[in-house]
Amino acid sequence: MRDRLRTHSQTPLVAPSILAADFGCIADECKSVLDAGGDLIHLDVMDGHFVPNLTMGPDLCKGVRSHFPDACLDVHLMVTDPGSFFEPFVDAGADHLTFHMEAMQSPDQALALAANAHDLGATAGIAISANTPLSAIDAVAHAFEMILVMTIQPGFSGQAFQESALTKAVSLRERLGPDVWIQVDGGVSPKTAAACRDSGCNILVAASAIYREEPADRAAVIEALRG
Ligand code: DX5
Ligand code: ZN
Repeated sequence: MRDRLRTHSQTPLVAPSILAADFGCIADECKSVLDAGGDLIHLDVMDGHFVPNLTMGPDLCKGVRSHFPDACLDVHLMVTDPGSFFEPFVDAGADHLTFHMEAMQSPDQALALAANAHDLGATAGIAISANTPLSAIDAVAHAFEMILVMTIQPGFSGQAFQESALTKAVSLRERLGPDVWIQVDGGVSPKTAAACRDSGCNILVAASAIYREEPADRAAVIEALRG
């Protein structure tokens, strides 16, 4: 399961984001969504600089890895200097590293970081926030296994879904074909999931839609997100 992003499937994947989990019992919270059918654990890393929030670091990732040796850990870096955290996160058990185009000084920097992630044995993703045009990643998208189309401005869970951002996913899917993961993140719920899937997104990240439910009810949400 750790290499889940290296092969493609017709069935959309669901990536529960532990940002909305109870941090006081994070292993139980991870177990509940893996038992409920979650495909990846999505870790939202924020540095208080790129976004106005501070969340989790490599030690949290290491703790999750130690409890779940087979889980695919999808690390979403919302930080100003993502490259400096690649090695610590891979050493802590990360399988996938996504970073933001808005944090890059140039397309060449993004390409170099994609190569760096691959050299470390991870798959790589490039993210654009809801307000960023698709043209920002024109010169780099080909170098990544995953494009993350955010449907919010990054920083917090529980924000309203911005459907207009999905036009970028439609264009990406047309342009890049079936063999790239298009992840959507922000306000994804059973109500908004069909629009995401119909736009070509095939990894749905959700925090509040899953974690606001009791553990026993999370499988139904994950099933509804997958469609
Ligand atoms: C926010 C994070 C998201 C967040 C989504 O910047 O990238 O992954 O956890 O939260 P919801 O699903 O509640 O919008
Ligand atoms: Zn995220």
